[in-house]
Amino acid sequence: MASSLLTLPSTFSRLNSFPKTFKALSLLKFHKQHRLRPLNYPLLHFPSSATRFSTSRIPLSSKPFDDDLVVLGIETSCDDTAAAIVRGNGEILSQVVSSQADLLARYGGVAPKMAEEAHSQVIDQVVQDTLDKAGLTEKELSAVAVTIGPGLSLCLRVGVQKARRVAGNFNLPIIGVHHMEAHALVARLIEKELQFPFLALLISGGHNLLVLAHDLGHYTQLGTTIDDAIGEAFDKTAKWLGLDMRKSGGPAVEQLAQEGDAESVRFSIPMKQHKDCNFSYAGLKTQVKLAIASRNIDAKVPLLCASSQDRSSRADIAASFQRVAVLHLEERCERAVEWALKIEPSIKQLVVSGGVASNQYVRARLDQVVKKYSLQLVCPPPNLCTDNGVMVAWTGIENFRVGRYDPPPPANDPEDFMYDLRPRWPLGEEYAEGRSEARSLRRARVHPSLTSLVQASLQQQ
Ligand code: KG4
Ligand code: ZN
Repeated sequence: MASSLLTLPSTFSRLNSFPKTFKALSLLKFHKQHRLRPLNYPLLHFPSSATRFSTSRIPLSSKPFDDDLVVLGIETSCDDTAAAIVRGNGEILSQVVSSQADLLARYGGVAPKMAEEAHSQVIDQVVQDTLDKAGLTEKELSAVAVTIGPGLSLCLRVGVQKARRVAGNFNLPIIGVHHMEAHALVARLIEKELQFPFLALLISGGHNLLVLAHDLGHYTQLGTTIDDAIGEAFDKTAKWLGLDMRKSGGPAVEQLAQEGDAESVRFSIPMKQHKDCNFSYAGLKTQVKLAIASRNIDAKVPLLCASSQDRSSRADIAASFQRVAVLHLEERCERAVEWALKIEPSIKQLVVSGGVASNQYVRARLDQVVKKYSLQLVCPPPNLCTDNGVMVAWTGIENFRVGRYDPPPPANDPEDFMYDLRPRWPLGEEYAEGRSEARSLRRARVHPSLTSLVQASLQQQ
């Protein structure tokens, strides 16, 4: 405590040196009110735009809503260029998403170089539109939050560069955000009663995670995918069934599945013999591919041009795939709830977020699972489940409130500046008892988990 108080003057003089006195004062007031201490020395060694953490003396899970905070969030980790401005009390002032769905439809997947170009073309406009919609200028922001990982480095770089330009030019603190933490925490913006600890299932195109959220920046990973994520399986199924991918594959499969018989194609449920919480969707993808081939479905024939028999056979595959893909989620969630209740008996909610959580069938089935344990299912609205800037701005706010942010960067980064990007960045440490023999994780170039970084910084206080 004594040493932390000693660092206050330099921290505050740094804040006082902001040109916009009112902003400096409001930050000062904020941090004095909550007795927070932003650090201006690295606790952990990061080579470049290091994200530095400090700890607060208020419990991380308490939520001092603060209307004065106004945070811009920027998200470019995959194929959507998104930005939003959110107030400390959770009010969404504006949000803009520029989707690369056309590229996705054309190439059937995300091509990093093309995605990077698409982000670069629209990022300035997306941020400007976000400011205009909120009726604000950069000067009125309190901080900028940006996704630094996990994701495609080429794409992450576009968002981080933009965030640093805005923060540098307007002397704003900057907050590096974990994309999956953002998917989970946006549920706290929607459901104000959602307190730590809670269980979260995060399902998207690249991730399938079951995590126990103990606190901000503190997660135990109960399960992950050993190969593909469920969103990837939805996307490939849509592509092979010749569906319109312009809104991504998932919604197209969900819609067609409503016409089909979900019991008609016998797909087997993945990983039945593994009594853990990990996932696998590669095998189910192969089963779908074989079923499509055996029914002579031609993906080049668009659904609208298919005969009624062809259409109903595609619908049966879509429905059967969706049923089994979700059964796999249900089984894993049941086990995860049991594990989670042993580790944190006070949990009351299962948060389901990420793009696939916008699927109504997924929501309805998981609702049945949580009811068995008298838990509540918390799903953000569909536009906050898929990638968006609101979740980044909100996670920025949560971190900012406890002093986890970087000071404003210089107005211009040097040409050879090494950005702190974390393409492979686990959210939490693996639950030891849940480790699966089926998992052979590629460990190369994996960044230390968010949880281990936060814990290490807290221990150094
Ligand atoms: O979270 P997200 O927007 O981006 C990633 O971080 O990956 O998730 C995108 C994924 C895609 O695979 C998309 O097909 C899937 O979410 N998705 C859906 C639905 N809406 C989006 N999957 C199933 N049903 C949906 N309604
Ligand atoms: Zn995502």
